[in-house]
This record gives sequence, structure tokens and C-alpha cells, in this order.
Amino acid sequence: MMAELSYNAPKEVKDLEIFNTIELEDFARLVMPKGGFDYLAGGSGDEFTLRRNVEAFNFKGILPRVAANVEFPDTQTKIFEHELKVPFIMAPIAAHGLAHQSKEAGTARGIHEFGGSLMSISAYSGASFQEISAGLKDTPRWFQIYMSKDDELNKHILDEAKADGASAIILTADATISGNRDRDDKNHFVYPFGMPIVSRYLTGSGKNMSLNNIYAQSKQKISLEDIGFIKEHSELPVFLKGVQTPEDALAGLGAGADGIWVSNHGGRQLDGAPASFEVLEEIALAVAGRVPIVFDSGIRRGEHIFKALASGADIVAIGRPALFGLALGGWKGVRSVFEYFEKDLKRVMQLAGTQTIEDIKHTRLKDLK
Ligand code: LAC
Repeated sequence: MMAELSYNAPKEVKDLEIFNTIELEDFARLVMPKGGFDYLAGGSGDEFTLRRNVEAFNFKGILPRVAANVEFPDTQTKIFEHELKVPFIMAPIAAHGLAHQSKEAGTARGIHEFGGSLMSISAYSGASFQEISAGLKDTPRWFQIYMSKDDELNKHILDEAKADGASAIILTADATISGNRDRDDKNHFVYPFGMPIVSRYLTGSGKNMSLNNIYAQSKQKISLEDIGFIKEHSELPVFLKGVQTPEDALAGLGAGADGIWVSNHGGRQLDGAPASFEVLEEIALAVAGRVPIVFDSGIRRGEHIFKALASGADIVAIGRPALFGLALGGWKGVRSVFEYFEKDLKRVMQLAGTQTIEDIKHTRLKDLK
């Protein structure tokens, strides 16, 4: 198949009636160009880890408490200085323009209009900081850096992110080359637009480049020292993202990480790895509350958010469901997805007998066969 020469992303803006976010993927497939849909929805290899990320939640059951005197559960929580209305935020994802013509600015507006959450901005955004800010307004944001091989350029990128208002930096450490993404290879997928934030270190703008080409021009030899470098230069808290073992969580803490981000990159990198949820609890035990834990990979329902919080996450990040919402309804679609998760989580909290996020954290899960 030929690489797509022109890319016709959806542009509709509308509220969505969402029954569950799993079927959003099927609806998004109908409106997105194939190359963009496969890139977003796909994972690596057999997509074992991609599937397992969602399935793994079924191996733990929520033990509900009854007669718990609960009404109108309260989903408020806090991370660093941010008071959030809900314990979930937008995950960092590249190239939102594949899903919708409004690109990251659409997602940003959806998060802003929802209110009380937070946006992670990917260095591989197809929109500039200014364009994203127009949608995000005063909503808090974190910046996910894909580093250049050149630290002077990294300093410039961090300066820009900070000037844009980033209140934390996310160092994604699990993606120095791309996983073997068969779908992208078969589609000869290349990004149909540039990446303004990192274009300073690419040979081109990012347009018509494959992910592997872009990764190759980014930094491969990421080490624990990069945490210190980013922290020192930005003077912002730094998350180590992509952590899948207690050893790496502890090494990250030792190197000064201010937060641990448990993720397997939505099953897009190392196929054959366990589900992100399967490693969460042991990492949380090792971190022992010293720094916040953000969790992503596989969240599709309120029950999943609940189980992640009960297993030691402080905040959960939403990825593909928000992008499918963007494809189907632009900024309003993103808002609909966030509203769905809020409503669904509150329902689960009521049924589980938990009034607050703290109560969720004290809920026991039962191992299921
Ligand atoms: C991906 C990178 C860009 O998973 O985060 O495609």
C-alpha cells in the first residue's frame, strides 16, 4: 500500500452519548483514515500486551462494602499543587491530528471545558505550545519530553515547556526505538504533518517521517542521569515514565524522580510484557507513598480506574479513549469521554461503598482465577 499523501482527519464537533469507551474504538475506525487509526489503535508484535492491558483488570475483583453510609461519592484529589476534580488526567500521546483536524488544541479544549483535570503535552505533538494553549487556557499541564541527543537543544525545549506553563516534566524512558508495529509497517505509515516542538532536532519537520525515523533522531541512551539533568535545568518535578518493575522505581527515586509513572506505553513498545496493571501493586509497595504514582495503559472503564487506585496509583491517565472521542466529536467528544469516566467512577464508588478517593485506596481487591 502507498503511504498516504494527503490525510483527511475528521473535523466534526459534537457531544457523544457514551455507553462504554470500548466501542468508541469501533466507531472511530469508521471515521478515521486507516493509517492514522491503525497507528493509534495498534500495538506491537502480536498485540498480546495491548490486549492484556485491558484483560488484566478481570483478574482482580472489587470487594464492595455495604451499609457504608455513602451518597454522592467525592472524586476530588490532589497531585503536587493541583487540586483535581477527578483522579484521572490526559495521557501524553503524539500526533492528535491523526484523530481530528483540531489536533492537540481540540483535546486541550475538551480537557479545559471538562475542568478540574490536567493535560499531558507530548513533545511529538502536531500542534505548537501556542496552539495547544489556546484550547487549554489556564488548565494545568505537564510536558512529556522525548529528548534530543543534544543537551543544549533539550534545554531549549524544556525552557519553552516551562514558559508555556508546564508544572512537571515526564521523561518517557521506554520508547527509544519503536516497538514492531506490524500495522504501521504494512500501511507504510508516516506522520502526515510536522511536529513543531521537536522539529528543531529533526532533519525535517516530522512530516512524512516514520516513527522509527523520528525516534532514531531522538536520544536512545536514556539513563538515570537524565532525570537529574531535567530536574536541574527545569526546576520542575520529574516523572520517570514507563516503569514496570520495583527495581526501576527505586532506581528512579534514587536518581531524584519526583513521581513514578507505571506504564507499558499502551502495549506499543515491548510486546510480551505483562499488563501494566499486573505490575502496579508491587511497584506501589516499593515506592511506599514516597512520591506519587501515575498509572496508564488499558483504562477503559470506571472499574479500571477504581482498581488502579486500589492497587496503589494516585492518578490514572487516559489515552486512546480520549483520542477516539476526539476523532468522533472534536473537543466536545473529549469532554464527553472525561464526563463518562467521571460518571462511571462515581457509580462504581457508590456500589463499592467508597465515599472518597482515600476510601478507594483502602479497598481490598480479591485475586480471581
Ligand atoms: C508512540 C509514541 C510516539 O507510541 O509515543 O507512537
